[in-house]
Amino acid sequence: MKEYDYKVSAAGRINLIGEHIDYCGGKVMPAALSLKNTVYIRTNGTNKINLSWTTLPDKVTLDIDKLESYNGLKYGNYQAGAALMWQRAGHKIIGCDMLQDCTVPFGSGLSSSAAIEVSTIAALATIAGEPLDKVDIALKAQQAEREYAGVNCGIMDQYASACGRKDSVMLLDCNTLKCEFLPLRLGDYSLVITNCKKPHNLIESKYNERREETDRALEILQQKLDISCLAELSLAQFKTYGTALSHALKKRVEHIVTESERVRVATLALKAGNIEMLGELLNKSHASLRDNYEVTGREPDALVEAAQSQSCCIGSRLIGGGFGGCTISLVKTNGIDEFKEFAYKTYLKATGYKAEFYDTEISDGISVEKL
Ligand code: GLA
Repeated sequence: MKEYDYKVSAAGRINLIGEHIDYCGGKVMPAALSLKNTVYIRTNGTNKINLSWTTLPDKVTLDIDKLESYNGLKYGNYQAGAALMWQRAGHKIIGCDMLQDCTVPFGSGLSSSAAIEVSTIAALATIAGEPLDKVDIALKAQQAEREYAGVNCGIMDQYASACGRKDSVMLLDCNTLKCEFLPLRLGDYSLVITNCKKPHNLIESKYNERREETDRALEILQQKLDISCLAELSLAQFKTYGTALSHALKKRVEHIVTESERVRVATLALKAGNIEMLGELLNKSHASLRDNYEVTGREPDALVEAAQSQSCCIGSRLIGGGFGGCTISLVKTNGIDEFKEFAYKTYLKATGYKAEFYDTEISDGISVEKL
């Protein structure tokens, strides 16, 4: 790739625990992956961004003065949205050729879209000679996802994609954006990432629906309580004031409150090296996503069940937006091969889908290399 000036990458992510609470001001525990989107970039002296892909024959040209007009493109939509938000924030966009190389599987719940948005902005800033403010890049990438791609997401994915650190999970407070890095020391256990391969086309509509439900619940509770976000609600307050909510909203809020508590305990468990406790919390998180937040589905549930039924697995849950995508499982390192074989067969028998396992590491967020 010598003909390009820079190689700029941003990461896909997993989330250890803290699901569907980032947009309620909760704390979450994501980590960046070595699965990434890499942008090879060079200036081209025009007012166009020429996009090409290592994995696709398509080529797309974006006019820098009309970035708002590309919404809905099959390929190039995320790049156009990211560039537009960066431009609207007052940054100069320089004409360039970008070759995109994405190793984050699409639709897997590992945030390929965040990796594309974040790496695109970081690449544009790099050729403009701007210093990289990773948090600001994450915020503009989130805006692209919300305003251009139409998913009213929280900040977790873009933040992890931009700011992640090798071998660490991030304890990110989505209310304040304060972030603590915790070394991911799992002792005799390893994290196994498994894709249930169920296309998750429900994700955008159902995701936005959950967000609306939590917004409504917050409004109702704010009539009785002085809280600025649902993650501030304590278990005791929920027990007292939750009665003001409809049955469905109550279940949603129960998830937010209990998941926030699980993140708190998981932090202590991780710091103390109590991996068994972490595993239990993963299982409870999945049960709450399934029963209270109702964002799992037949296939993810079957995969998690196949994982949890094995003695070498101490915890398993669906990660990301839900309705499909990937699970993470905490598995005894010396039992991984049998674990995968059993999970694959059992899941195939239950659903007809062929689960896929990813070999990936916890890695850095944005990285820039001069070529
Ligand atoms: C998606 C969103 C995130 C977060 C997760 C659920 O990945 O982009 O902001 O809400 O779902 O935890």
